[in-house]
Amino acid sequence: MTDITAKAESWGSRVGLILAMAGNAVGLGNFLRFPVQAIQNGGGAFIIPYLVCFLLMGIPLLFVEWSMGRFGGKFGHHSTPFILDSMDKRAFWKYVGVFGIFTNLAVAAYYCYLESWTLSYVYHSIMRDFAGQSPEQIAGFFGNYTGTPGAETYVFWIICLVLNTWILSRGLSGGVEKVAKIGMPLLIIFGIFLAVMAYTVKAGTNGAINDGTVGLNFLWTPDFSTIWSAKVWMAAAGQIFFTLSVGMGSIQCYASYVKPKEDIALNAMSAGWMNEFVEVVLGSAIIIPISVGYLGIDKVVEMTKNGGLGLGFQTLPYLFEQWGSTLAVICGAFWFGLLFFAGITSSLAMGTPCMGFLQDEFGWKRENAAWAFGGAVFILGLPTVLFFNYGVFDEYDYWAGTFSLVVFAMIEIILFAWVFGMEKGWKEITTGADIQIPIAFKFIIQYVTPVLLAGVFISNIPFLIDKITNADIYTELAKTTDVAKKEFLEKKIIYVNMARLLLLAVFAGVSYLVYVAYEKRKREGRIS
Ligand code: ALA
Repeated sequence: MTDITAKAESWGSRVGLILAMAGNAVGLGNFLRFPVQAIQNGGGAFIIPYLVCFLLMGIPLLFVEWSMGRFGGKFGHHSTPFILDSMDKRAFWKYVGVFGIFTNLAVAAYYCYLESWTLSYVYHSIMRDFAGQSPEQIAGFFGNYTGTPGAETYVFWIICLVLNTWILSRGLSGGVEKVAKIGMPLLIIFGIFLAVMAYTVKAGTNGAINDGTVGLNFLWTPDFSTIWSAKVWMAAAGQIFFTLSVGMGSIQCYASYVKPKEDIALNAMSAGWMNEFVEVVLGSAIIIPISVGYLGIDKVVEMTKNGGLGLGFQTLPYLFEQWGSTLAVICGAFWFGLLFFAGITSSLAMGTPCMGFLQDEFGWKRENAAWAFGGAVFILGLPTVLFFNYGVFDEYDYWAGTFSLVVFAMIEIILFAWVFGMEKGWKEITTGADIQIPIAFKFIIQYVTPVLLAGVFISNIPFLIDKITNADIYTELAKTTDVAKKEFLEKKIIYVNMARLLLLAVFAGVSYLVYVAYEKRKREGRIS
């Protein structure tokens, strides 16, 4: 009975699968994270490392994860612990696979919270609540919303969680695919509209100081001066991982529902390139041109120093107001609506590995598995809501949304290319392929991507040490003489450490469940 529930699940159509996979990749990262990474890393200096990382790490990992997923799916596995187990029987791999459940849970925990802000901002844009407000007031609204969460913050958050859970409970073809088929086209239409608006920003009109093209030129004029900067390369690699959702475990899960001989090569490329179109074309054509148009490059660079949420939630609503009431409503609803669709199609993907695991291993019904996911995200997300200002949200983002992706990707590609074996691996990738994949990718997957991944990991070690020892917070603490600030920083250290312990506990808890599942399989004689 256990396997039947999960096996009955499948994609309704190829278009639906591609849109769902593209929706998994296209997320808040495309519109909020990418522009900020690009700005912080010198505009044109960022785009070259970014594209190189896409070709040498992103595409190879897409091929690897799609084929691992389809391979594991043949044996009725829909989450990475047992997908990895089907590729090599050593116990170690099952526990590496824990990343593919842990990461999705922990990212969903803060991601769904962020997603819920977009719903609230759609509502406030339509209600004209930002009309006539100063930039400080609009920024202040965001500060209050996240800093001292009130009833509204919780209401939108719970609505968002329930919506995700309900859609997941309807299954892949009945829920996820339908949302992707509606959400992705709308997102692209909204994005094109906003990009055109951004392009037409004119210096001297409505308070703009630059043409919209100034921001675009900033990003698209290649600058080779920082090509050797490790920091820029790290940022580019991190962005590629996050935006493509590689190293997460959700691609493997979606792909495990693909039929054994169905194409994965063209599907992987379609979804991957659709993500890149949305990111580099639409993602760079909205926030950067509009904010540079009104504020200038230096101010925008300054504003993104402490992360990127400010531009999207504090600055854009004010700038939309400069275009008059009708356009302010349309652009506000389109911008936050676009973010909502981008977010939900990704958070749904984060739910499926945990559900697949509960269905496959413990025979849970889909609905129950979906509500279990929703409940876990609620509990795990609560600290990000309560202690947002103390850096808990950022802490989740670092450990789950950055660190874990690189670690998991690095180990899974070694399993794929070196343990499972590149010959078998290449056969998996090319079976049923509707395109001819350049043979160079065989070499890239086996040698180049693992070396680059190891390079990314090793160059991150100094940063990792600073992070673990809270070096930045202690430096700030040593410098400040303000008693209130000192108290705040001391509390921040406690909350940040607690957040890490909580994440570790989740990892340990999932590992334990994998152990229990394995023992259960042994007892039931289901070891394949
Ligand atoms: N890939 C998703 C994003 O870009 C997680 O937001």
